Amino acid sequence: MPETATKSRAATIALFLSLPLVLLGGVYYYGYRERPHLPTQPLPFTHNSHTAADKTAIPCVACHQGAETAPRAGMPTDSTCLQCHQHVLSADARLAPLHAAANPHSPAYTGEPLHWVRSAPLPAHVHFHHGQHTRAGLDCARCHPTPDAQLPHSMNSCLDCHRKESIPTNCSSCHY
Ligand code: HEC
Ligand code: HEC
Ligand code: HEC
Ligand code: HEC
Ligand code: HEC
Repeated sequence: MPETATKSRAATIALFLSLPLVLLGGVYYYGYRERPHLPTQPLPFTHNSHTAADKTAIPCVACHQGAETAPRAGMPTDSTCLQCHQHVLSADARLAPLHAAANPHSPAYTGEPLHWVRSAPLPAHVHFHHGQHTRAGLDCARCHPTPDAQLPHSMNSCLDCHRKESIPTNCSSCHY
């Protein structure tokens, strides 16, 4: 057999053998690493319906009251949701868990609050204070461009901005 044909057959075989690896790499990269691992929530809330300028346009801090002052942004209480949903979509099945949690007039009422699951919490060894950052004039969207699919906050995302803004980057400013 001519040498070039052998080589090209070897190349074809090598390509075939590496294909599953390439595919697996793709699955890991796009399916696991890049996308946040979204937890199952008590009901299918979406930010877009509530915050988009052409929708209800509720300010972020109406639901996350600590974000401009406190270390933690916090989650909304069920009564905040009920203020609207007593009237809006009140019979919609997607809101049944809210009525069970917080609406004493609901036949399914339990009084057991909704439990929202965090998708991107920092590890316990990192110190972050919301108020300190929002008071410095940073918009929520700088760090939360897509709150419906919050990506993990990497150390580099902190350092990139701190270096640009000449904020101290010694380890102990963020790590206890
Ligand atoms: C200021 C009023 C208001 C508040 C407060 C509010 N909602 Fe809504 N919500 C709406 C409106 C308006 C819609 C869109 C209705 C439509 O699609 O016609 C909506 C839609 C929804 C939907 C349907 C799915 C979606 O996202 O489009 C769910 C589920 C929902 N809201 C849950 C909640 C929860 C949970 C809270 C509290 C954390 C909450 N809402 C607070 C007004 C409100
Ligand atoms: C009507 C109430 C409401 C408003 C307004 C609202 N949020 Fe939320 N937010 C929620 C609820 C409920 C959750 C928990 C469910 C979820 O993760 O989608 C949440 C979760 C989040 C999370 C996920 C945090 C994590 O680690 O899992 C971020 C980030 C966030 N919101 C940012 C924002 C920003 C930024 C805005 C303004 C653009 C905003 N929210 C407006 C109700 C609200
Ligand atoms: C400089 C970056 C930055 C800015 C600006 C910022 N956040 Fe955050 N946010 C974070 C980080 C980092 C976390 C994770 C904190 C943790 O797990 O301790 C977080 C977590 C959250 C959470 C999860 C729940 C909680 O109690 O912490 C919500 C909700 C949230 N942010 C909303 C907001 C809103 C609303 C604004 C604007 C008013 C805002 N954030 C501005 C970086 C930021
Ligand atoms: C978009 C820019 C930006 C990002 C992203 C950011 N920071 Fe900051 N950070 C700032 C600014 C600006 C200040 C100074 C605030 C002030 O003037 O007090 C600051 C201050 C701090 C301080 C206080 C430092 C000191 O010595 O006083 C800590 C701690 C901190 N940030 C932690 C974090 C952590 C942890 C993250 C990532 C999860 C983060 N930051 C992401 C802009 C940012
Ligand atoms: C501006 C804030 C900030 C500074 C400064 C900082 N870190 Fe971090 N660091 C973080 C955040 C946020 C995480 C969590 C990232 C994550 O969960 O992926 C982290 C995670 C880590 C981890 C754990 C990595 C892992 O895989 O869990 C180590 C180790 C670490 N940092 C070491 C350091 C050292 C050493 C320094 C000083 C040279 C330093 N950090 C400075 C914010 C910071």
